Amino acid sequence: MKIERLCILGGSGFVGTHLVSQLAARGLKVRVLTHRREAAKELILLPTVEVVEADVHDQQELIRQFRGMDAVINLVGILHEDKVGRVDLPSARRGDFQRVHIELTRKVIHAMGEAGVQRLLHMSALGANANSRSAYQRSKGIAEALVREAGRQHIEHENWYLNGPKFVHGYGLNVTIFRPSVIFGRGDSFLSMFARLLKTFPVLPLANAGARFAPVHVGDVARAFADSLDNTATVGQTYDLCGPKAYTLQELVAYVGEVIGKKRSIVPLGDFMSYLQAWAMEFKPGKKLMTRDNHFAMLTDNVCSGGWPSVFGFQPAALEAVAPEYLRAETPRARYEGYRESAHR
Ligand SMILES: NC(=O)c1ccc[n+]([C@@H]2O[C@H](COP(=O)([O-])OP(=O)(O)OC[C@H]3O[C@@H](n4cnc5c(N)ncnc54)[C@H](OP(=O)(O)O)[C@@H]3O)[C@@H](O)[C@H]2O)c1
Repeated sequence: MKIERLCILGGSGFVGTHLVSQLAARGLKVRVLTHRREAAKELILLPTVEVVEADVHDQQELIRQFRGMDAVINLVGILHEDKVGRVDLPSARRGDFQRVHIELTRKVIHAMGEAGVQRLLHMSALGANANSRSAYQRSKGIAEALVREAGRQHIEHENWYLNGPKFVHGYGLNVTIFRPSVIFGRGDSFLSMFARLLKTFPVLPLANAGARFAPVHVGDVARAFADSLDNTATVGQTYDLCGPKAYTLQELVAYVGEVIGKKRSIVPLGDFMSYLQAWAMEFKPGKKLMTRDNHFAMLTDNVCSGGWPSVFGFQPAALEAVAPEYLRAETPRARYEGYRESAHR
């Protein structure tokens, strides 16, 4: 499996920019599809990276973009459905979980089949489960099932004993699925969001304070993707990706406060109050901080049952070794997120 050229969906995002940089450093030719070239401006200067403005929801467009590629990586995901019904948004940005996680995955698989691309790396999330109470986790679980199915192929012969016509069902793609816990690193929205809240509020009522996470560094997630590309041992596998240690949400927020020098009183909310707070936050205009669906997702611990997959041959970084450096610094992306929030976008 020699991979030289690949196409990435969601390459302009937080994980995407880290991954594309790693792939470019390895000399791979990378095509990043984005709804707006401006959204991927950090990547435009990388020598082997081509940033293409495209509507990834357009089936024919996907087939065109995938032709000549050796692999596809799909990182597209949304945490909130706040774009539902926003007809003012272009098709490339509109979508609920069904459209963005399920239908898009189906289109990617179909386009790969049409364009003759065999290798697919698919980004899911720890906790993805078709039976979850959270619609985010349900849609991620259904998308995983589609990807696994795309990895299968059945061959059927009509009158096989007479060497009759052969029917091939399924795409038989070489698929690998990744399911990270919450991802941290320069440009993240999780720890950086709490840093911003702690800077603003003297007391923080915290929903789902007991929810457990095993934060994994974005550089390690990107490296796991990049290392998997031409490693045949990873084909057909699903990897849960967690950092070395699990924390409750309250511990994480307290840690962020310590690092940025804003030790605040954190008031843990019970289940019912957490639900109400999430509901109230759905009415906040602009970028959502929390929804009831996020609350449902947090009712289940977001931690791995096993260790870091040995196939990757490296160990994930500890939160404490990386987070202070970027949480203390006011990064351009953090500032940008702040502006977006105050502009309700
Ligand atoms: N961050 C985490 O803690 C975490 C944890 C577990 C799993 N994940 C998964 O990892 C993936 C990447 O996460 P991230 O944090 O890097 O996300 P992100 O920064 O929000 O980036 C998401 C990307 O998806 C694309 N996108 C957003 N809405 C879209 C829509 N309606 N239609 C088509 N494309 C759309 C965007 O592409 P353009 O703007 O360029 O068009 C963007 O590049 C997601 O699938 C997420 O579920 C993330």
